[in-house]
Amino acid sequence: MTSFELISYIFAAAFFQLSVFGTLAFYRHWQVYQTMKSNLSEFAPELSCEPIVEDYSPDIIDEKQSVWTGLRKFRIDKKVFEDESQSICSFYLVPVDAQPLPIFKPGQFLTFELAVTDPVSKEGKKVIRCYSLSDRPGLDHYRVSIKRVLPPAGSQNLPTGLASNFFHDNVQQGEVLDVRSPNGHFFMEASNRPVVLIAGGIGITPMLSMLNTYLDTKNLREIWLFYGVRNSTDQAMKMHLEALAKEHSNFRLYICYSKPQQKDNLGIDYQHKGRVDISLLRLTLPLKPFQFYICGPRPMMETIVPALDEWGVPKENIHFEAFGPASLSKSAFKKPLKEGGKIDSPPVTVTFSGSGKSIPWDENSNSLLDFAEENDIDVESGCRAGGCGACQTTIEQGEVEYIQAPDFDPDPGCCLLCVSRPTRDLVLKI
Ligand SMILES: Cc1cc2nc3c(=O)[nH]c(=O)nc-3n(C[C@H](O)[C@H](O)[C@H](O)COP(=O)(O)OP(=O)(O)OC[C@H]3O[C@@H](n4cnc5c(N)ncnc54)[C@H](O)[C@@H]3O)c2cc1C
Ligand code: FES
Repeated sequence: MTSFELISYIFAAAFFQLSVFGTLAFYRHWQVYQTMKSNLSEFAPELSCEPIVEDYSPDIIDEKQSVWTGLRKFRIDKKVFEDESQSICSFYLVPVDAQPLPIFKPGQFLTFELAVTDPVSKEGKKVIRCYSLSDRPGLDHYRVSIKRVLPPAGSQNLPTGLASNFFHDNVQQGEVLDVRSPNGHFFMEASNRPVVLIAGGIGITPMLSMLNTYLDTKNLREIWLFYGVRNSTDQAMKMHLEALAKEHSNFRLYICYSKPQQKDNLGIDYQHKGRVDISLLRLTLPLKPFQFYICGPRPMMETIVPALDEWGVPKENIHFEAFGPASLSKSAFKKPLKEGGKIDSPPVTVTFSGSGKSIPWDENSNSLLDFAEENDIDVESGCRAGGCGACQTTIEQGEVEYIQAPDFDPDPGCCLLCVSRPTRDLVLKI
């Protein structure tokens, strides 16, 4: 064999080996790629090449279709208790006018104007309260689920919650109530992005609407629910949530009991002993661009919302709603009014004529509502977001500016305290 032939054989053998290894390596990489692609399309369809399947998109609904003006009469069709301790009751509402119900966005609430008897003065009075819609849109009824509110622990001489106890004790099947149209900015956007819902106690209600809406479609969006309650006695809609988790592989249910009872089985009734907190989220969640929706009691909101921010979750991916006066201050997400925190505007005085108080406006107050409460002025509130009209107050003198455009249209000469601040000396009729 000549040296030329020998070199040719060596090259041919090397080429053959390279081709075999190359083909094998390509095949193995192809298999890995295919597995990754199918995993991605299971949980993050927007990242895959598959077309997005979206049966139902609340965002495409004509805005005009989603509201009525003023109050509409609804009849209570049925009442259903949702927890073992019977402290949460669902009220099914059908319109008295029998006209179709507008679609709402999952997470929005209804506002009720109730005629109740004041437990202290024994006089009749009007109270305005908001309750989240707890089922999906598109049905022939609306549903709200209301927790009976007791006096805070250790203060038994205070009256029980006015509206919630009125609902539980006085609102029976057939009762007619005045209701404002669905409203609110806390709702789940229609998209295929993965979502984490975090609910504490009765904060589960808007999440139920979100779950019932999106798990009812062919959308395989990944949804996690972390739901914190004391134990199985307090857990709302236990069987419904467990059934959803069984039926939908894209839904992960994570129940947390802070004080489990003996009959509560870890791994069956609940997945974690303790509260929902950031370390649990960090340990449990895969790294993905989740949208977070949070609704719960004040301590939970005050720890989880800033902790998500510190964890690096972009602010636009953190959505939250607080129920009632214990509302979380959004100041953590607010820019300082002026660079360096200095305020140049001249001092402003707010006078509450009904209470006979004149107080210098505090620039650190989020709104006139917070300011009034900080100074012990008795003031009504509901949504604390410009949506229900409960805090509407007459301006006797001066002007206000709105921090955010209100959804509720205040009467001429009035302002909504929860979303406004004074621009100059102000006299309010409270
Ligand atoms: C957008 C939104 C959605 C909501 N969704 C839901 C929902 O789906 N389900 C739900 O159950 N709730 C929901 N809420 C909360 C609901 O609107 C009410 O705030 C709640 O039912 C309590 O109202 P109440 O009239 O029963 O209690 P209130 O009469 O407002 O009393 C509240 C607490 O104050 C105590 N209290 C009474 N008088 C005094 C006093 N003088 N001094 C100190 N404390 C006193 C009471 O004992 C009670 O503990 C929501 C709230 C908002 C803003
Ligand atoms: S509290 Fe609802 S509009 Fe102000």
